[in-house]
Amino acid sequence: MALADFENNDLKLIIFGGKGGVGKTSCAIATALALAENFKTLLISTDPAHSVSDCLDQQIGFKVVKVNNTARLWAIEVVADEALSEFKTEHKSELKKLLETSTNLDNTDIDEMLALSIPGIDEVMSFKTIIDFIEEGEYEKYVVDTAPTGHALRLISSPKLLDEWIKVAARMRWKYRYMITSFAGSYRQDEVDTFLLSLKKTVKRIENLLKDSTKCEFIPVCIPETMAISETSRLLSDLGKSEIVPRQIIVNNVMVSEDCSFCRSRKAGQEKYLLQISEIFSTLNKVEVPVFAEEIHGLKSLDQLKDCLFKTE
Ligand SMILES: Nc1ncnc2c1ncn2[C@@H]1O[C@H](COP(=O)(O)OP(=O)(O)O)[C@@H](O)[C@H]1O
Ligand SMILES: [Mg+2]
Repeated sequence: MALADFENNDLKLIIFGGKGGVGKTSCAIATALALAENFKTLLISTDPAHSVSDCLDQQIGFKVVKVNNTARLWAIEVVADEALSEFKTEHKSELKKLLETSTNLDNTDIDEMLALSIPGIDEVMSFKTIIDFIEEGEYEKYVVDTAPTGHALRLISSPKLLDEWIKVAARMRWKYRYMITSFAGSYRQDEVDTFLLSLKKTVKRIENLLKDSTKCEFIPVCIPETMAISETSRLLSDLGKSEIVPRQIIVNNVMVSEDCSFCRSRKAGQEKYLLQISEIFSTLNKVEVPVFAEEIHGLKSLDQLKDCLFKTE
C-alpha cells in the first residue's frame, strides 16, 4: 500500500512520530519531497538533533531555506531556545506588566523570573512556531519531523500546557482587576489582557487543528521489532487521549531480499513482528518500506524512499 489522501487541499499539517532510529526523518523528508511536486511545502524539524540537515546534506538551521534541487520545497529546523527568546523579546512589555501587576516582584526579580527555564517550554515554542507558519499561510503543506516519541507527545500536548499557564496568569490578573475596580470603579482591558486573550485563541486554534483529521494527519513510523511495536502501541493510545487518530502507519526496514542466508534469516525473523503489526494496528493503512542496502542520505536515496512510500500498484 502507499501513503494516501495527501492531495486533499484541506490537509495542511502532517506530523511524523515514533521511536528513535525508525526512519521518521527519512520518511518526513521523502513525503515532503513528494508533496512538493504539487504543492508549495515547508518541512519543519522540531528535533533538537537537527538530522534534516544531515539527511539532506544541506545546512538548514532556524531560518527557512529552499531545499536545493527542488522546485517547491523549503525547510527549517526549529531551535526552541531561539524561538523562546524571540517570543520574550516580542512580548517583553506584556510579560513584564503581567508580573508587575499581579505579583510583588521588583524589577530585578521580574528579569530573573523571565530568564528562568520553564518545564515543557521547548515543545510549546516549537508548536507555536509551526502554528505561526500555518497562520501566515505562505505554504500549502507543512510536514513536521519530530524527535522520538516522548517529544512528539509533549508537542501534541503543548496546547494543554499553554492553556494551564494562561489560566494561572488570568487568575493572577483577576486579583489585579478586582483591586483596580474597587479603587477606580471600573476596569479597562490593557495590553496584558489582549496578550492573554490572543494566546488563548492560539491554543484553541492549535487544538482544533490537531483534532481535525481533514486538516492534520499524524503518521507513526514503526519497524518490525518488538520494542518499536510496543512503543508505537503506547504512542497510539496516548494520541487517542488527545483525540488524534492516525489513519496510516509506515512499517520501515522490512527485509525483502532472499538473496543471501543473512537476508533469509532476517526476513524469517521479521515475519512474526509483521504479523503482530497487522493485528495490533489492523485499523491502519500499512505502508511497508524495504530496508535499503545503504543508509538514506541525499536526494537520490530520498527519491527512492519517496517512490516506496507513494507507489500505488
Ligand atoms: N529503509 C531504510 N533502509 C536503510 N536505512 C534506513 C531506512 N530508513 C532509515 N534508514 C537509516 O536509519 C537511520 C535512522 O533513520 P532516521 O530517518 O534518521 O530515523 P529517526 O528520524 O526515526 O531517528 C538513518 O541512518 C537512515 O539513513
Ligand atoms: Mg529523526
